[in-house]
Amino acid sequence: MPVKVIVGMQWGDEGKGKIVDMISGKVDVVARYQGGANAGHTVVIGSEKYVLHLIPAGILRSDKTCIIGNGVVLDPAAFIAEVDGLAARDITAKGSLFISVRAHLIMPYHKRLDRASEQSASVTKIGTTGRGIGPTYSDKASRLGLRVADLYRPDYFRDRLVQSAKQKDSFLGSFYGEEGSDIDAVVETFMGYAERLKDYVADTGAMIRAAVAEGKSILAEGAQGTMLDIDQGTYPFVTSSTCVSGGACTGLGIPPSAITEVLGVMKAYTTRVGEGPFPTEMGGQEGEDLRAAGGEFGATTGRPRRCGWLDGVVGRYAVEVNGVNSIALTKMDVLDNMPEIRICVAYEMDGERLENMPANIADMARVTPIYETVKGWMSRTAGVSKYSDLPDGAKRYIDRVEELVQAKVSIVSTGESRAATIVR
Ligand code: IMP
Repeated sequence: MPVKVIVGMQWGDEGKGKIVDMISGKVDVVARYQGGANAGHTVVIGSEKYVLHLIPAGILRSDKTCIIGNGVVLDPAAFIAEVDGLAARDITAKGSLFISVRAHLIMPYHKRLDRASEQSASVTKIGTTGRGIGPTYSDKASRLGLRVADLYRPDYFRDRLVQSAKQKDSFLGSFYGEEGSDIDAVVETFMGYAERLKDYVADTGAMIRAAVAEGKSILAEGAQGTMLDIDQGTYPFVTSSTCVSGGACTGLGIPPSAITEVLGVMKAYTTRVGEGPFPTEMGGQEGEDLRAAGGEFGATTGRPRRCGWLDGVVGRYAVEVNGVNSIALTKMDVLDNMPEIRICVAYEMDGERLENMPANIADMARVTPIYETVKGWMSRTAGVSKYSDLPDGAKRYIDRVEELVQAKVSIVSTGESRAATIVR
């Protein structure tokens, strides 16, 4: 297994943190390939709970090399806070954690732009995490970005900063009436970050390619999920990075031929944070009950997550787009007390059955799910660690999910802890 990719199959928050933690025990390198501090990967070890936003979950195991790849957008302050937070819990990152020299930096004006755009009455509200993710990726594509390597060439850094800030300041000033950037202050702050980051900065692409050549095993940790992918997701209600498995190549600097396995992580139901269509969303009390049962509040922003039934159209699409070899089905236990469970098998629009989701977001907003209803198992799966101990109803649910999305379920998660896991 040179490179195994773990990818979210829905709108993020599928419980990837726990699965990454579990698999990372068997690999040499754990690498994040996209996104930024907008992610929230929760791992529970014994009585300790860790929420990681930027640093790969592999950091919780002392013998792993962890990499923040070039496809990630780096907020240095968030990185330093996370490293310090881990240090306070006796987890040392120095020597095992590396940041790509090619990763783009989230600048103060990126966060201001993100928030201004979200508050604007004239721009579609996406419901972002407000971490400056979209504007940083925009600058990357516009060739106005600043990268980690630039921190160590102060004259170049200042020159590029002036160019980039000028453009943003002009827009923020005329559109939102905001004041301009204080260039000297930004340079001073970022030179301070450069000093703090210098022990972590490396050519991580070369490191990973060397690891692949040596036959080491690498886990590429996806953040967010397929439906939030900039190209394959529910555009424009998406994040700005390539969340799907293919993003591991561009975001880490490895060839597609290095990828040997893709593990999709799918929740036994669906959640979404932020705006945008969500065909199987539950309304009213039903949705609130599921939110309470699943503890569905954002790990990064604390926002309540919208909740709904499992969407087989989304699942099948995610299997195809990512080349999912097998699935980790998470939060199975949250459905333990449901007398009836619904699964969306297709959509309907204008009287026509759709097996695939429409590309236009206004169409996606008006599809109605075609449901199949199965009897709930109404018994406890929470904490179950052997497949044979699952109630028959739960086994039937898994069988139906496999049939619908056309991939095998190889892992079932029945709770937060490492022990509450079934490996088939
Ligand atoms: P951004 O990534 O902050 O630009 O937000 C864009 C969209 O992605 C919003 O709907 C966010 O709620 C969503 N999003 C970003 N990161 C996550 C995540 O880690 N889990 C779930 N949704 C996310």
